[in-house]
Amino acid sequence: MDSKTIRKKFLDFFESRGHAIVPSSSLIPENDPSVLFTTAGMQQFKPYYSGVKKAKSDFGTSNTTSVQKSIRTSDIEEVGDDTHLSFFEMLGNFSFGGYFKKEAIELAHEFITKELELEIDYVSVYEGDSDIPGDTESENIWNAIDSSLIVKKFGKEDNFWGPTGNEGPCGPTTEIYVNGVEIWNIVFNEYYCNANGSKSPLKQKGVDTGMGLERLLTMLQKKENVFETDVFETLMKDIEEKVSSESKVGNNRIIRIIADHIKTSIFLLSDGVLPSNSERGYILRRLLRRAVRYMESLGVLDSLSVFFDSVQAIYGDIYPISDEMRSTIISEIKKEEDKFKKTLAQGLKQFDKGERDPFVLFTTYGFPLEMTQELALEKGEKINEEDFFEKMRAHQERSRSSAAGKFKGGLAGHSEMEIKYHTATHMLHQALREVLGNHVVQKGSNITTERLRFDFSHHEKMTDDEKKKVEELINEKIKESLPVTCTSVVLDEAKDMGALGVFEDKYEDKVDVYTIGDQDAVFSIEICGGPHVTSTSELGTFRIKKEESASAGVRRIKAVLE
Ligand code: ALA
Repeated sequence: MDSKTIRKKFLDFFESRGHAIVPSSSLIPENDPSVLFTTAGMQQFKPYYSGVKKAKSDFGTSNTTSVQKSIRTSDIEEVGDDTHLSFFEMLGNFSFGGYFKKEAIELAHEFITKELELEIDYVSVYEGDSDIPGDTESENIWNAIDSSLIVKKFGKEDNFWGPTGNEGPCGPTTEIYVNGVEIWNIVFNEYYCNANGSKSPLKQKGVDTGMGLERLLTMLQKKENVFETDVFETLMKDIEEKVSSESKVGNNRIIRIIADHIKTSIFLLSDGVLPSNSERGYILRRLLRRAVRYMESLGVLDSLSVFFDSVQAIYGDIYPISDEMRSTIISEIKKEEDKFKKTLAQGLKQFDKGERDPFVLFTTYGFPLEMTQELALEKGEKINEEDFFEKMRAHQERSRSSAAGKFKGGLAGHSEMEIKYHTATHMLHQALREVLGNHVVQKGSNITTERLRFDFSHHEKMTDDEKKKVEELINEKIKESLPVTCTSVVLDEAKDMGALGVFEDKYEDKVDVYTIGDQDAVFSIEICGGPHVTSTSELGTFRIKKEESASAGVRRIKAVLE
């Protein structure tokens, strides 16, 4: 069953059961500045859940269905494995006060088992905690449909969804698993999550479902991974044709990443995003530049734009692109490639000559920090990010005072987010020690404009309750608007102050100690090169997105500021 057939089958099924078919919205969300991209089908319907808009008057019914273009870049480093993509399509059905749990579950069951003839391994429902009670209603509905079905119960991490951005509808979910993979997420929007993290019951209950098209196709087309399905096949083949058989060996993942990034970039460009140094444009720039670099590493020197037609062959019928837009996309890709090639050539030359300071490479040659990091990693070397940010901040201050303004605007915005994550990382370190114990020490940290990643010593998976306590503690400290101050002291003094940090001889005599909190009520104190925000009130709301094992005895948290 090819992708076109599935999209149609899904939409037809729900249309024949009283849903209005609504076209995919743009990848750039309308009227929702809290999110960079459309990440789920429900996003365009947010005002219908809260009751601000009425579906009956806009669609003639309270129920809708769509196939939504979506972008998720927070797990970008996982792209290239069998299931992760930065662009994907989400099949969904939605109800805003029309039907609720019973009908939603029955419809999903019918579609999976009758229309697609797939066998369900098991389903999951929300088990409940002191905050939100368990979803026994969904459990009973599943049992009534098929008493032999296994119904598992999981906590908030798996079976609670939303909101997108910093506020919106959210609620417990029930999920369908086929061949060991979660394929359909059915969300019951019973609450409105407010910007401060509190939840109020929604007057009108809603349904929001999402099934990843690419994962479903992998199953239906009996493939091993998403890159073998018909929404990638020709693109993968066209890229592979350009790569010599020698370069192909061991580089399958790289070819997949190139395919993913080209596709996502074309979709972003067609929705009006242009490469730049800030926010959406920066993400597009990074995707294009990564793809260029990977192509070069495989010895392919063609422009990425030669693959425009490969992507169009897959999607042209579904998401048509005008001739004018086609020329714009191709010329934007080429322009960005030219810019990057100049930058790359200069930066690489300096790197090969032994220049390792990312600050010098960036300010003199425009060579991005992450490129220096990637090159260094290939050589088994490490780049001192903190030093980079400290120098950048000092540099920006100098530029501001001299009104040169060279690094204002985009770049400043980009590193501002990273500075916020930097402070949030200190707060997380301290909060983990308070909740889990003082055996917690930092084992690694990585910050992007979209999230922080923090590795720490701890032997067990954190419970939902522990995660909640950590979030609450941090959000409480954010609300207290604690000052963040820096003092320069000798190392022994820093130790006496009880500062956390790596006490190695790499520190010169004097070290910077960053304190979060008032002098008489210190929350966190840590040796660090900075930079940091000046008050915790700048951080927004802290949320843990993922908690998993990083290696033996080391856990990893990914968290965001919303
Ligand atoms: N909105 C839900 C999701 O993205 C269905 O998983």
